[in-house]
Amino acid sequence: MAAYEFVDHAYDVVVVGAGGSGLRAALGAAQQGLKVACVTKVFPTRSHTVAAQGGISASLGNMGEDSWQWHMYDTVKGSDWLGDQDAIEYLVRNAPKAVYELEHWGVPFSRTEEGKIYQRAFGGMTRNFGEGPVQRTCAAADRTGHAILHTLYGQSVRRQVEFFVEYFALDLIMQDGACTGVTALKLDDGTMHRFRAKLVILATGGYGRAYFSATSAHTCTGDGNAMVLRAGLPLQDMEFVQFHPTGIYGAGCLITEGARGEGGYLTNSEGERFMERYAPTVKDLAPRDMVSRSMTIEIREGRGVGPNKDHIHLHLDHLDPAVLHERLPGISESAKIFAGVDVTKQPIPVLPTVHYNMGGIPTNYHGEVLTKVGDNADTVVPGLMAVGEAACVSVHGANRLGSNSLTDLVVFGRAAGLRCGEVVDKASKVPDVPASATDGHIARLDRFRHANGSIPTSKLRIDMQRAMQSDAAVFRTGKTLEEGVAKLRAIHAAGADIKTTDRGLIWNTDLVETLEYDNLIDQALVTIEGALNRTESRGAHAREDYPDRNDVEWMKHTLAWKIPGDAVKIDYRPVHNYTMSKDIDYIEPKARVY
Ligand code: FUM
Repeated sequence: MAAYEFVDHAYDVVVVGAGGSGLRAALGAAQQGLKVACVTKVFPTRSHTVAAQGGISASLGNMGEDSWQWHMYDTVKGSDWLGDQDAIEYLVRNAPKAVYELEHWGVPFSRTEEGKIYQRAFGGMTRNFGEGPVQRTCAAADRTGHAILHTLYGQSVRRQVEFFVEYFALDLIMQDGACTGVTALKLDDGTMHRFRAKLVILATGGYGRAYFSATSAHTCTGDGNAMVLRAGLPLQDMEFVQFHPTGIYGAGCLITEGARGEGGYLTNSEGERFMERYAPTVKDLAPRDMVSRSMTIEIREGRGVGPNKDHIHLHLDHLDPAVLHERLPGISESAKIFAGVDVTKQPIPVLPTVHYNMGGIPTNYHGEVLTKVGDNADTVVPGLMAVGEAACVSVHGANRLGSNSLTDLVVFGRAAGLRCGEVVDKASKVPDVPASATDGHIARLDRFRHANGSIPTSKLRIDMQRAMQSDAAVFRTGKTLEEGVAKLRAIHAAGADIKTTDRGLIWNTDLVETLEYDNLIDQALVTIEGALNRTESRGAHAREDYPDRNDVEWMKHTLAWKIPGDAVKIDYRPVHNYTMSKDIDYIEPKARVY
């Protein structure tokens, strides 16, 4: 093994990731008077939050009556009763406050005639417990994530968060079951860094790039999730992968659900608005899992559009061009660039595309990472928090409602910052770290840097992505999942013969892509094993061989540990079927009709 030396850093709090949740957590911890570092593999304003389009949900009631209780009901129902109701209550009650905070920090929200924050309709968001759509999603045109991310970055700089930009995090430093820091490779000069910390917050996003077609950026490789698996901790509910109904056919780029919120609708080859059959009350504004399944059924039954009848049309051509210009300028441009379509005249060709991971690192609503010790599945891992898409709080359960993600980022980013103020002792010393705690990190990096096998990383990655796309898709069966598990185990095993070519350390993209692939393959394995194991249909997990939701046996979270080699160990964690406060009852499971 080559010799590596660490540059040493010590902070109260180290946040890994600079998207919406990472920045909100970092500035929140800094607001508590703590010394905070933010370590990020891309420049903060290039984090994937920048791509969020349609908006951020909060029951402001600017466009008509609304309430946090209705928002809570919709989120529990949208989650198909897998969401933890205490965390959901925390989310929806704090959402308005979090949005006003963003407004006061400078987010340029679109406005109503009276100057209030503009809100649009989004899937599954209803008034009066399911009676019909409500306008709850606060929007900055269709570039809401961009507006929020830039504002949060400015606020973080203002609060003296120290940024380590283009540092690739390698592994968590774990000592006696507690996290005491993280190691990272500085990409532009190849130096190795050891960030010792009293508390590490993972805000590393989702792992959409385990699939072939995803709306996620190529950087979405779930690096924090994989670090957690390597630390011997579990991930939760990984089998629940969200397909967004309207990825541009072929390119996979996102066309916001806000397009349907503004009046857009889907048609099949017969010109039929087929969502009226599947969701008579809310139609095209049903939750995403339902819309994606309905589109897939239309295509399977021969009613897809195009020469191969393999996609669906999204119509905006009946809308006033001035509305498209004002409210949906970004997707109008994307449709032109990626589908050659003028949205004022032609429908957009769309197809369900991987968009979001409901699963991730289990946490409570303070952001503290949980593991199972004995019978206690809510055991807090000292020194470690997770927020954003990397985390599974779990407010989205089996299916996330559109626009609840940005809310999740800022509400739980803020909660994590507040918790840092409660649990981090400013006066205490930052823990020392013996070399033995990081030897494994270096060994892993060095193995890939000098990998001299015969299979390039790109081949293993594409094989993994294709296997996930075909075998862990919108609809799943025991047979496709078993085939997928076998393929992924073979791909994982082939990793022993992996080949990299760049032996340097400066801007070694070959090495970074290999480390990212290694992160992805572990998450792909726990995802597909979890999907095979869960013999019911719930939310985004649609098993054709088990078409019904089974609350008696399966109203529980999956916990999945990666055992060295390709084995996955599965256990469970109870769903929190209780609320945070005493003034409301928990929402009883019932059929999910829209
Ligand atoms: O469709 C969208 O604008 C996506 C929003 C979300 O995933 O929350």
